[in-house]
Amino acid sequence: MTKNATFLKDVNDGLSQNPKYISSHYFYNKAGDELFQQIMEMPEYYLTNSELEIFSNQSDDFIKSFEIDENEEFELIELGAGDGKKTEHLLKSLLDKNFNFKFIPVDISLNSLEVITNRMEAQFPDLEISAQQGDYFQVLDDLFLSDKTKIIIFIGSNLGNMEDEVASEFLQKISQHLKTNEKLLLGLDLIKSQDIVLPAYNDAAGITRDFNLNLLKRINYELGADFNLENFQHAPEYTEVEGIAKSFLKSTKKQTVYIKELDRYFDFADDELIHTEISRKYDDQVLQDLIEGTNFEITHKFLDSKKYFADYILTKK
Ligand code: AVJ
Repeated sequence: MTKNATFLKDVNDGLSQNPKYISSHYFYNKAGDELFQQIMEMPEYYLTNSELEIFSNQSDDFIKSFEIDENEEFELIELGAGDGKKTEHLLKSLLDKNFNFKFIPVDISLNSLEVITNRMEAQFPDLEISAQQGDYFQVLDDLFLSDKTKIIIFIGSNLGNMEDEVASEFLQKISQHLKTNEKLLLGLDLIKSQDIVLPAYNDAAGITRDFNLNLLKRINYELGADFNLENFQHAPEYTEVEGIAKSFLKSTKKQTVYIKELDRYFDFADDELIHTEISRKYDDQVLQDLIEGTNFEITHKFLDSKKYFADYILTKK
C-alpha cells in the first residue's frame, strides 16, 4: 500500500471505532515536525531540558556503563534521530576519549536525518556517521547483518507513545537483536504529579493545541476532508495512578464531517472525543514489567536534578 493509502485506511478504521481514534504517528508531517520543535521550547515541556541535563552532565557515566573496550570498534545506533541536541553531548564525550565508533541515526523522515547529519558533520569533522532511512524494525534487521558491537539509544520518552503491550514487543525485538552484554540506553519520562505533567501537554501559548489540531488539518489537506478546526478542542488528560497522559480532540458540537477520498460522512456528537495520543510515564516497576520475558535487565539509571526523567541502561543478558 502507498503511504497515502495507509493513512486513508487508518483514518477510516479509526474514525469508525468507538471511541474514535487516530494514531499520534500521523502528527509528524512538515508542519507537525515544526510544531513539535516549538513544543520542546515551551517552558511547560520539561522533558527535553531534564534529559538534556542528564546528557550534558552524565555522558561520561553513560560511557562507563556501556562497558566498551577502548580499542573495540562499535556502532552507536540512535532510533528516532530527533534534532541531536542531547546526543551531541554523548558524541562529544566519546570523541574526546578517542573511542572508535560509527554513529548511525535511524529515522523514517529523510528530512530529519539530513538535519542531524549536517549538524553533526559541522560540529564533529572526525565523526563517522551513516544515516539510515526507514522503519525501525526493517533497519534493525539490516544493521544487524554486521557483527560489530552495538549500543542502541532510544531517548526522549518516545517509547511513551506506545501502548504497554506494543512497547514490550518492541523491547523484545531489540533485545533479540543484541548480543550478550550489549546495551540499550532508554530515555523515559517518570510518573509524577499532574500539576507538572498536564501543563506539559497543554502549554499556555497553545502550541500543543495546534500540534494536535494539525492532525485534522492534515486530513483536510491530504484526504480532502472538511473538518472545521473551530469546532474541535484540544483536550489533554492525565491520571497519576496509572501514569498515562492522553490527548484527545473534542467535538464542540454535533456535526458531520465529509472525507472526499473515502466518499464517506462521519458523525460527531457534542463533546465526542477522538483519541490521538498516549504519552506514558514510567517508574522502575513499570519498566521491569515491560522487559519481563525479554533478555534485558536494568543495570543503570541516570536522573536529572529534579528527578523528572530517567535514562536507563538495559543490558542484554
Ligand atoms: C515525542 C512522544 C515524547 O509524548 O511527550 C509532545 C510528543 N506530544 N507533546 C510526548 C508530544 C505532545 C512527545 N514524544
